[in-house]
This record gives sequence, structure tokens and C-alpha cells, in this order.
Amino acid sequence: MITLSDLRSFGPYPSRVTTTVLNQVGHAMRRARLRHYLMCPPAYFDVAYSINPWMDPAGQVDRVLAVRQWSGLVEAYRATGHRVDLLEPRPDLPDMVFAGNGATVVDGHMLPARFANPQREAETALHAEWHRRNGILYGGGSVSQPSAVNEAEGDFAVLSKRILGGFGFRTTPEAHHELASLTGREVISLELVDPRLFHLDLALAVLDDERDHIAYYPHAFSQPSRRLLAELFPDALIANEHDAYSFGLNVVSDGLHVFVPSGARQLREELAAGGYWPISVDLSELIKGGGSVKCCTQEIRPSLVPARRAASLTVEVSSLVPDTASQRSAGGAS
Ligand code: ARG
Repeated sequence: MITLSDLRSFGPYPSRVTTTVLNQVGHAMRRARLRHYLMCPPAYFDVAYSINPWMDPAGQVDRVLAVRQWSGLVEAYRATGHRVDLLEPRPDLPDMVFAGNGATVVDGHMLPARFANPQREAETALHAEWHRRNGILYGGGSVSQPSAVNEAEGDFAVLSKRILGGFGFRTTPEAHHELASLTGREVISLELVDPRLFHLDLALAVLDDERDHIAYYPHAFSQPSRRLLAELFPDALIANEHDAYSFGLNVVSDGLHVFVPSGARQLREELAAGGYWPISVDLSELIKGGGSVKCCTQEIRPSLVPARRAASLTVEVSSLVPDTASQRSAGGAS
């Protein structure tokens, strides 16, 4: 039996250290892998413009509530053993809370976003700068220059070997090629057709990135993409319209715990039946901006360095950054 304090005592990247839990019927086994997330507090969150169908600048935003809800998500990640670092928010960038859209980090390779809308353009440099300064934490740090429009994990879903790439509203197919050549991984392009589900992470969720188990809402995709999904993922959970429009697919999963927007009903039950441990998160204020759990969360996937190199990196980091531990307890390496 693994307790929370055991989880906390693991280092930030025990990528092969897993917990094992049996579900109610005692066979389906789900495993959590500890993760590293980058997030940005909604200190200046607002719906000041409209770049997606959910955003109504005439409506009211309760920023205090937004911060409280978002903090609950951070606490939930940390309570389950995950590392969360923070980006400094900027007053003129009200969508910065959606940190999942700012950069894609796979195997230590980092591709910053190039936003489709000018209102978010300036976020790119802030993400790139954070990764330039902190890349040593994950065996990365070389920041490439994006040439095609891509909205990072908004449209990229990383599986065990391959990456799924959304296009149709924001990220372009050219960016799929760019990420493929940067990472050496195959990127499978999927066409989005529902403007309310304008990012892939609103239409599809990765539940287990070691076994490539996903959930998705078929009507968000063009016919050919739907066929492809059915062929590639015959065991996927199929979400209904209610759950998709409640941001129910905008989840973060560590392989066992699934942090799922509270509006999702059927999906939550199916997750539990499938051996996952759904943790319901209410981000109703942020939904007014068109995003929820996954949009707020950028996952940093470290380079897979052999153990001996990883150990020497640890020494380097601690000698370079003597106050790492106090920074971490203060909530960020930035
Ligand atoms: N207002 C933001 C935008 O339209 C919301 C982004 C939410 N992200 C997401 N992956 N759905 O860019």
C-alpha cells in the first residue's frame, strides 16, 4: 500500500516508478506516473475579447473565485504527488492561465506555441523564457522557434510513442510536421469540425499515455478522422454531447487519477468503471474563457536520460541552484 507521503518522497521524475491499484473488480490495473506541470495563476484572468464561442466579453468574471478554483486544481495535483511549477502572470494577458496552450514539451524537446490570434501572441516569449531558464530541470532547454501556427497541448495529445495533432481551427497541419521533425515521433493529424470544440483537448482526452487509452467525442471530428480514431483506438471511451460541451474531455490524467471537469457525468462513471480514479474539479469561472483543467496544465515530459546521467544532472542542478528546495516549497522554480 503506497501512501501520499511515499508519493511525495519520490523525486520529480521517477518515470518508471509507478503505483499499482486494482479496481473494484480486481483486474483492470491502472498506474500513476508522477508528472511535472507548468501552470499560471489566473491573477489577471478576464474575458476581455472573444476568440472562441464560449467567450462573452459582456459577461461577468469573478476573478477571486477563479483563483480559488484554480488553486484547488494545483492542490489536487500536489496532493497526488505531482510537481507544479508556476509561470508569472502578466496583467495584459488575460488568457495566460491556459498554460497548456503555451508550449509542448516531449522527451525534453520544447516547441513554443505560435498563437492563431494576436491577443495571445505575447504569451509565447514568456513560455520560451521559462523553458530557457529551467530546461535543466528536465534535461531540455533548447527552445526551438515555431514557424507554423500551433497552440501546443491545446491541439497536441502525446501518447506512448505517437502524438495526435488537431487542426481545423487553430493549429495548422504544417505545425504537425514541425513537431514530428523536432521529436522524431509520428504525428497523426485529426480534423476538428465543431467550433465549440476548437482545440483537440476539448474533443479528446489521453487517459493512459503508456497504453494509449483515450476518450473522445466523435462528432467533433470530420468523417475521415472519426474513422481513423475508431480504427486506431477500438477500446476508447466514447463521450456524449453533454459531457463534451461541459468540457468533460478537458482532463489531465496521470494514468490513474483523472482530474476531470465537474460538469462531466457519464464520463466520470465510465472512468471509475474502467479502473481510473476520477477527481472532479470545478473551474466554472475559467470555462467562461473557453478552457478547463487540461488547458490550464502544461505537462513537461523529460528527456529519457539513462539513470547515471540523471544522477549527475541532479548534482549539477543542486550546485547551480542552492535554494531549489525552498523554491519548491514556495511553489515554483520560476
Ligand atoms: N480563451 C482561450 C483561447 O481561446 C481559451 C483557450 C482554452 N484552451 C483550450 N485548450 N481549450 O485561446
